[in-house]
Amino acid sequence: MRRKLIAGNWKMNGSQAANAVLLQGIKDGLGNAACAVAVCVPAPYFAQCQSALAGSAVGWGAQDLSVHEAGAYTGEVSAAMLLDFGCAYAIVGHSERRTYHGESNELVAQKTVRALKSGLTPIVCVGESLAERESGNTAAVVGAQVDAVLAALSGDELGNIVIAYEPVWAIGTGKTATPEMAQEVHAMLRARLAAKNPAAAERVQILYGGSMKPDNAKELLAMPDIDGGLIGGASLKAADFLAIVAAA
Ligand code: 13P
Repeated sequence: MRRKLIAGNWKMNGSQAANAVLLQGIKDGLGNAACAVAVCVPAPYFAQCQSALAGSAVGWGAQDLSVHEAGAYTGEVSAAMLLDFGCAYAIVGHSERRTYHGESNELVAQKTVRALKSGLTPIVCVGESLAERESGNTAAVVGAQVDAVLAALSGDELGNIVIAYEPVWAIGTGKTATPEMAQEVHAMLRARLAAKNPAAAERVQILYGGSMKPDNAKELLAMPDIDGGLIGGASLKAADFLAIVAAA
């Protein structure tokens, strides 16, 4: 039985004052959550998360990492820097980075390898646009995104990634994939993993992301291959985030 993971993606939101309230609210309301819980935060707040979340059950991660190890890469943040602050997860290949920063399937694969080799758990994001879904290309697009990552990993390594299926048309739009639509893609993704390593595929958590909210989380999380959520907007309010954690 896979343990569920509810991860917040704060995106480019927050301030020291607002984060302090949000993190305290999450810690106070968490109780004995059955699922794993994490927040993925902007780089300037790594130190704040490290100290605010020390000794709590809430893990934290970054929203990206550099593909390079160190050196003359202005503006980049390395895996070693993330680890220096006790970071556990790194989102890789979010659609906003693919779209606004031109990240290719190959770069996303290389970042996934960088995260894994450094001891971070990559949360690898895949998902199709509305045009791709409407033209019947969801499986081809999402399949190619995941295949590029799988081609870069050994059979053993693939058991250590998390995947997030985030249909681009559902991100920040209030439109959610139906549980059946999401389940179909999640099952396809797990089958791709299983073709390479069946035992590891059973362990990999495949999260859904895209307007997951307290009022739709339960039915999405009830599907057999939906192992959690990557939450954008609803992760910025402790009460909403905790309600999704409770649903899991
Ligand atoms: P929303 O939950 O705001 O739709 O964002 C989803 C997302 O992109 C998480 O990474």
